[in-house]
Amino acid sequence: MPAARRSQAVPHRTAGRSIRDDRHDAAVPPPSYSALSLYAGAGGLDLGFLEAGFEIVWAIDSDEQAVATYRANLGAHIACGELPGTAPPAELTPDVVIGGPPCQGFSVIGRMDPSDERSRHIFGFLDVVERHEPRAFVLENVKALAVSPRWATTRDALRRRAESLGYEVEVFVLNAADYGVPQGRERMFMVGMAETRPVCPPPSTRGHPVTVREALAALPRYGEPGNDGICTAKVIPAVKPVMRPTAHKGSLLFNGSGRPLDLNSTAKTIPASMGGNATPIIDQDELEHGAAPWVVEYHARLLKGGKPLKKAPARMRRITVQEAAALQSFPRSFRFTGPQVAQFRQIGNAVPPRLAEHVAGTVRDTLRAVDEGQQRPSGRRDAGRDSALALA
Ligand SMILES: C[S@@+](CC[C@H](N)C(=O)[O-])C[C@H]1O[C@@H](n2cnc3c(N)ncnc32)[C@H](O)[C@@H]1O
Repeated sequence: MPAARRSQAVPHRTAGRSIRDDRHDAAVPPPSYSALSLYAGAGGLDLGFLEAGFEIVWAIDSDEQAVATYRANLGAHIACGELPGTAPPAELTPDVVIGGPPCQGFSVIGRMDPSDERSRHIFGFLDVVERHEPRAFVLENVKALAVSPRWATTRDALRRRAESLGYEVEVFVLNAADYGVPQGRERMFMVGMAETRPVCPPPSTRGHPVTVREALAALPRYGEPGNDGICTAKVIPAVKPVMRPTAHKGSLLFNGSGRPLDLNSTAKTIPASMGGNATPIIDQDELEHGAAPWVVEYHARLLKGGKPLKKAPARMRRITVQEAAALQSFPRSFRFTGPQVAQFRQIGNAVPPRLAEHVAGTVRDTLRAVDEGQQRPSGRRDAGRDSALALA
């Protein structure tokens, strides 16, 4: 294994915090590690790494609008191009390679097709790891890739490939709600480390998650500057509602997949398809004046045999772009660019920055422990290289 590299110290950027601070290390130690980011999107994952003190030396995404957002908020180090064609500059020697390759191929709402062309990107990610030999990598993806029997072959092949490159590999399924994000969003993080075993980030808000109400409290009033990315998709009651025991959990009372948010709980996974009737719904009177949730009363009426309404009251509205961003734990200062549907897509596609910061902080601490001699290098990377050579 190559001698452990030390990066140059870089300034630590801070994007500000709008909700409960759940960081396990409020005083971030001096930054010292570098990262190379693939499929960076608007930069949710990257923002978390920046917040944890990493320098992002190079990033890439193929979506012009996401790249514009990234540049406006995180810096000009991102290229707009297609992987694998546009490869990272060969001379880069990042400490960590990070990225969330496109996941529609693995998504439970996607087609779950193992031969899907988009599934190839996860192996392309490891090609970059092989070329740049980072000390660690973090590959983020949907939970299905980690747990679904359908993806067992792909998952095992991915792990074997990473191990053959000399990495110890752990697959963590993390729920954003356990890491300071007001959203139940489970994601896979495959973490590889060349010198030691990857560590799971300790949860910070398990059992006491940040609520939707807490997350939205810091925003300006609905429609005012800073909270004016209004989604005009109408809220229309379903003609044939699907009834479950509670209004917020499982019941389908409106057309489309956008559900009413329970302000006292976490949101469900925010999808990339927001902008129309997949956009979550909020009760403005409940949010602003503390009124009893209209949907609970409507649900009770339906349970008693009441007829579905043709129109929902005006207080039932879609969330704004800024509210969606807050539910993903983006700081208020973060600005999205492009048409509204592109902004919603960038937000829904992102790794929540708070969750990313926890992952990044644990990778940083593990690298530091190796550097400070607190963790004995396993030397596995050399073993992996040997076995890879033996197989060649
Ligand atoms: C799940 S999103 C990544 C979100 C990002 N990790 C974040 O936290 O904001 C996947 C990204 O892959 C990008 N993408 C898809 N195919 C690509 C390709 N061939 N080359 C580069 N980027 C690609 C998409 O534009 C999208 O932004």
